[in-house]
Amino acid sequence: MSSPFGPLSVESPAPGLAVFQPQRGYRWGVEVYALVGFALGIGTPSPMMVPARVLELGAGSGIVSLLLASQGCRVRGWERDPEWVALARRSLRRSPAARGRVRFSVRDVRSPGNAAADLVVTNPPWFDPRAGPISPDVRKASARTMLHGTVDEFVAVGLAAAPRVCVVTRAERLAVLCLDDAHVARRAWLPGGGVGVVELRRGAGTTVEEALDLPAIYAALRYQPGTM
Ligand SMILES: C[S@@+](CC[C@H](N)C(=O)[O-])C[C@H]1O[C@@H](n2cnc3c(N)ncnc32)[C@H](O)[C@@H]1O
Repeated sequence: MSSPFGPLSVESPAPGLAVFQPQRGYRWGVEVYALVGFALGIGTPSPMMVPARVLELGAGSGIVSLLLASQGCRVRGWERDPEWVALARRSLRRSPAARGRVRFSVRDVRSPGNAAADLVVTNPPWFDPRAGPISPDVRKASARTMLHGTVDEFVAVGLAAAPRVCVVTRAERLAVLCLDDAHVARRAWLPGGGVGVVELRRGAGTTVEEALDLPAIYAALRYQPGTM
């Protein structure tokens, strides 16, 4: 299989899903399961309703949107790069567990237009372009480094669209998140502690610290680590 990304692989991150991604270049990791599980409240002390309408900002391969759709959400996935959108649509066609519940669009979060959702999820680029080397792979660079928008910009668009915004990002970005009339309602850390996942809500409020239960998340999504 070849493409603008070079050779592709196809993985099954959950039953009924088949998701393409480059063999080399930007590939997803454990953070996508953490984000989906945290957003759905899997393994958290108080159970949550599955949100009906979800918006994903920066959908890339579509893995997060497809996992959420397989859990019953209706999802819109926005992504600025048309080649990623074409790849995500190709995965959707191969994913009966998500069929009819996801729409991927070429949209730049810096010109979002109108959007309303019950939940926004995002795994935005998080490295500062001034702070280190930028990948020579243009798509890897756009996925990892804040070349086309900052974490704060993704968060601001999310908070304008939905009452709950779940973001996975590095600890140093979380520490300086710019929150105008919003607060961190929940926070958990991935193993190793360098990457966190937070739920932001509008208005003032307190933060609940949670433990991320990855085994419970994998079990609920029916993903078997090591099988991809
Ligand atoms: C870290 S990747 C996440 C991809 C996928 N959601 C995942 O979790 O594997 C960030 C994605 O945001 C996209 N992106 C970057 N800037 C964007 C912008 N201004 N508008 C929309 N998407 C953007 C990148 O192209 C990339 O696909």
